[in-house]
Amino acid sequence: MTPADSLQTLGRAADTPTPLLRVQGLSKRFALHPERLLPWRFDKRSRAWRRQRIHAVNGVDLEIQRGDALCVVGESGCGKSTLARLITGLLTPCSGEVHYDGQRVDHLTASQWRPYRRRLQMIFQNPFASLNPRLTVRQALEEPIRLHHGDWPRARVRDSADALMTDVGIDLGWSERFAHEFSGGQRQRIAIARALSVDPEFIVADEPVSALDVSVQAQILNLLMDAQVERRLTYLLITHDLAVVEHFATRVAVMYLGTICELADADTLFANPRHPYSRALLAASPRLQDGHAPPLRLNGETSMPIEPPSGCVFRARCPHANSRCQRERPLPQRLSEGHRIACHAVEEGRI
Ligand SMILES: Nc1ncnc2c1ncn2[C@@H]1O[C@H](COP(=O)(O)OP(=O)(O)OP(=O)(O)O)[C@@H](O)[C@H]1O
Ligand code: SF4
Ligand SMILES: [Mg+2]
Repeated sequence: MTPADSLQTLGRAADTPTPLLRVQGLSKRFALHPERLLPWRFDKRSRAWRRQRIHAVNGVDLEIQRGDALCVVGESGCGKSTLARLITGLLTPCSGEVHYDGQRVDHLTASQWRPYRRRLQMIFQNPFASLNPRLTVRQALEEPIRLHHGDWPRARVRDSADALMTDVGIDLGWSERFAHEFSGGQRQRIAIARALSVDPEFIVADEPVSALDVSVQAQILNLLMDAQVERRLTYLLITHDLAVVEHFATRVAVMYLGTICELADADTLFANPRHPYSRALLAASPRLQDGHAPPLRLNGETSMPIEPPSGCVFRARCPHANSRCQRERPLPQRLSEGHRIACHAVEEGRI
């Protein structure tokens, strides 16, 4: 395969600029918890006991260009958070590569990661858990500013924290209060301010609004989107909520059992999802009910990604599966610029 071919397989043209993030063949397996599941399985073919593992992320390829807001969407347990933790260096991959701004970062030690920590920030689902309960809001914001700008005088650090509080909509009169004195939405605002305090360029947000009241979710998403415009941020946002995706995403990656089955611009995916799983996932969307792709009902339930089956991981639930799907894992193919899909039926023109 020539370099140009391999770029085509990744779903982008050969002259695209270096992506801010590039992930290639990324995999993470976890040992099974021995108290909950038997970690060994008797393999009839080799007549030997084999250790079973959870294939949480299984050969993921992904690119994020500067300015993208990429949403990773998929059912619970499909590996979204594991992928986020691999990308941000909180987990080490079993195989594969993570390149940040052209530099390989997956093998770095904690101290080698330090320069990237400022550029790449993470926001979690539970803002209470990510805020130190012993710090006031002001202390929580001034701490990272001081850490990254050791030479700044106190007044400048204070002004910078004040500006952040104003930006995220926290009343300055509340700056001496502790995290537990705020509502969930306000806590998430503080967590966002803390992430922004070091002037990052890339933010990975793992379900940042799913723990919040519906009435507050849009406010927090709008805050993140405003910050994107004002600070020229790039986002990877994880969610299982398609309303969040529609509101937020410029690009969407659909994940199933540790793999990415479809990657496309948000408009393209919502207008015409091609992968059977994307179709099923989006079937509840009003736009799809109006139109193009027929809604697809899934058989069965998603399984744990323990020793995934041969061939396509979706085949047990897919109405288009055939014998090739049983044998051969579908590789990502480029459908059009920026649109990539891993499905034999699409490749063969069956759907
Ligand atoms: N530290 C761990 N040890 C063992 N198994 C793990 C660990 N972390 C995740 N897993 C397993 O890996 C799989 C993927 O988990 P992950 O948390 O990445 O999924 P997710 O898509 O984020 O799910 P959710 O939407 O529920 O947050 C799951 O089967 C999970 O049980
Ligand atoms: S590869 Fe086969 S089983 Fe997998 S989604 Fe496509 S048609 Fe269905
Ligand atoms: Mg998760």
